[in-house]
Amino acid sequence: MSRLPKAELHLHLEGTLEPEMIFRFAERNSIRLPYVDVDELAARYRFDSLQSFLDLYYANMATLLTGEDFAEMTEAYLARAAVAGVRHAEVFLDPQAHTARGIPLDAVLEGVTSALGTAEQRHGISTGLIVAILRDQSAESAMTTLDAVLSSDVEVLGIGLDSAEVGHPPSKFVEVFAKARANGLRAVAHAGEEGPPSYIWEALDLLQVERIDHGVRCLEDDALVHRLAAEQIPLTVCPLSNVRLQVVPDLGRHPLPEMLDRNLLVTVNSDDPAYFGGYVDDNYAALSLPPETLRQLAANSIRASFLDNTRKSDLL
Ligand code: ADE
Ligand code: ZN
Repeated sequence: MSRLPKAELHLHLEGTLEPEMIFRFAERNSIRLPYVDVDELAARYRFDSLQSFLDLYYANMATLLTGEDFAEMTEAYLARAAVAGVRHAEVFLDPQAHTARGIPLDAVLEGVTSALGTAEQRHGISTGLIVAILRDQSAESAMTTLDAVLSSDVEVLGIGLDSAEVGHPPSKFVEVFAKARANGLRAVAHAGEEGPPSYIWEALDLLQVERIDHGVRCLEDDALVHRLAAEQIPLTVCPLSNVRLQVVPDLGRHPLPEMLDRNLLVTVNSDDPAYFGGYVDDNYAALSLPPETLRQLAANSIRASFLDNTRKSDLL
């Protein structure tokens, strides 16, 4: 698994903040944590829903203060991804979760992109940054964030949509995504993780996204499955995440094999590896699929990336 060249297309950088890192950053930034040690923190990594995870995910971000923190977190992810055979990574960042705490956007972007910028040379990984909009915040906040990102010096690949899904349909962000696309950003959105298939339709028709993140609930809607298969719209599936967040009962009942049988362009990804028990190689391994299927999944990840065709051919 880890030798298969692959792309990681669904990875939240803040979801790579390992417990040890949380304690290290808290100490150097003089932040008091509500846990005595790493074991006490790790014991809280039991979730019964997306929201129960998001509560801890956002709380732990309080330890990220400086550009250096963001750079170190990103560099640690890239080093681990290289071990997993990742040759290309399109990674999410949640700027609103940091600007709302008073961290300057430039510090966040510069920290992250300083590590992404050396990834090719240090780890043989090409990278792209996808700025994710927090869907449980207002459309105005999303637009302010997009404008700030567009006027920064940083090269951004795309726009995404994440955070608490139910009650926050894609339709809330039509103008934001239209502006992002008009400015050359590639568009993706989390949809059909906890939310209904109608959110996947909206992401495709209203936000005009090119990939769906998660999308496992598409199987509840035959017409949607036919469309996703006919148009070969990639679905960035995250098996360990789905089990940890109780989107599916266990790995044995994960819908990924059925999704492949139905000719969907499925990829395997790690989502928030520090929280869900494994990086992308662990996700491939957890599926217990035959080697030829794992090879197909790795090839799908390269096909579903936003790389140009020359680099895709190099990696396939
Ligand atoms: N933010 C980080 N991980 C997420 C997930 N799995 N779903 C929605 N938002 C997220
Ligand atoms: Zn995600």
